[in-house]
Amino acid sequence: MKNNYTYEVSAAGRINIIGEHIDYCGGKVLPAALSLKNRVYVRPNGTDKINLKWTTLPDEVTLDINNLESYKDLKYGNYQAGAALMWKRAGHKVIGCDMLHDCTVPFGSGLSSSAAIEVSTIAALATVAGEPFDKMEVALLAQSAEREFAGVNCGIMDQYASANGRKNHAMLLDCKEVCHTFIPVELGEYALVIINCNKPHNLAESKYNERRAETEAALEILKKVRSISCLADLSAEEFYKNMHLLDGKVKDRARHVVEECRRVDLAVKAMQTGDIKGLGKLLNESHASLRDLYEVTGKELDALAEAAQRHPACAGSRMTGAGFGGCTVSLVKKSGLDDFKQKVAAQYKQKTGYDCKIYDAEIADGITVKKL
Ligand code: GLA
Repeated sequence: MKNNYTYEVSAAGRINIIGEHIDYCGGKVLPAALSLKNRVYVRPNGTDKINLKWTTLPDEVTLDINNLESYKDLKYGNYQAGAALMWKRAGHKVIGCDMLHDCTVPFGSGLSSSAAIEVSTIAALATVAGEPFDKMEVALLAQSAEREFAGVNCGIMDQYASANGRKNHAMLLDCKEVCHTFIPVELGEYALVIINCNKPHNLAESKYNERRAETEAALEILKKVRSISCLADLSAEEFYKNMHLLDGKVKDRARHVVEECRRVDLAVKAMQTGDIKGLGKLLNESHASLRDLYEVTGKELDALAEAAQRHPACAGSRMTGAGFGGCTVSLVKKSGLDDFKQKVAAQYKQKTGYDCKIYDAEIADGITVKKL
């Protein structure tokens, strides 16, 4: 099936180690690209059509490259259409081609399958047209596709990590300046474990956009008393002095943002000094804040994180990604890994009735291009 294509182009799913729901507030976040990927097998076809196939679906979809704006409502192929449209609108050449998509990032898991699809589609279109591409531009255009075609007013974290990740490294991504430094992920006798709570995340888009609007409302009020351009400009201490200006939920949301920004700084220090216990504690605090202040966890993610946190081999656990379902990331001692997996799965099932799914994924490169 993958024979007869000219290139294999891939982009990665991602985990976020810490720094949740702060990318769109100008914060620094700490994602890493995964070995779970979307691979695109691509060849030119000499027409003005993009023919899409999937390894995992029977569907076949044809996109007219002169009419890319008309595919927003497609069930499958809308991300590819959005990505191609953004690439074209930015002035790049889009040529007719056949694409076979092979996605190992589970859909709806909070591991950014959509970013992996958008980023790999753009990189594949550039490659098949013989154009060099800049990973930064690819990430930004993929983000526009997500906003316009999926209706999620997302930040830059997912597409950026999907494009720019590096094997065995997390990225300290500054979402205000849109630049990153790599931080080696050296966890000694610990491993990062990703577990999907397998709860479909209903209404995730609308709740996501609502949270974002609440942080913007907080910023508008705080801007009147401090000269800041985003919530991340405010230290937690400055926030505490001014938080009486905010009401109820808006106050809670903003408080999560400034405290999560502080946790990211501390987490980087902990990683750099090999302080795994310290890092684990920050993961737990992040989850608690996403549960109590930001309200994006839900009973399944809470049950999963709590089961993990209770296990003696676990240094810390939190939800990763947008929330409302999806995955947790846990820091687990390798010697206790088997027992951890078994006990957490059993406790989670008992509490929620759902089977969870544990992934074997490594930290990998972002975009890759291979000539076939
Ligand atoms: C989603 C968005 C990201 C980010 C996370 C939460 O994955 O696409 O931009 O906001 O949620 O941290």
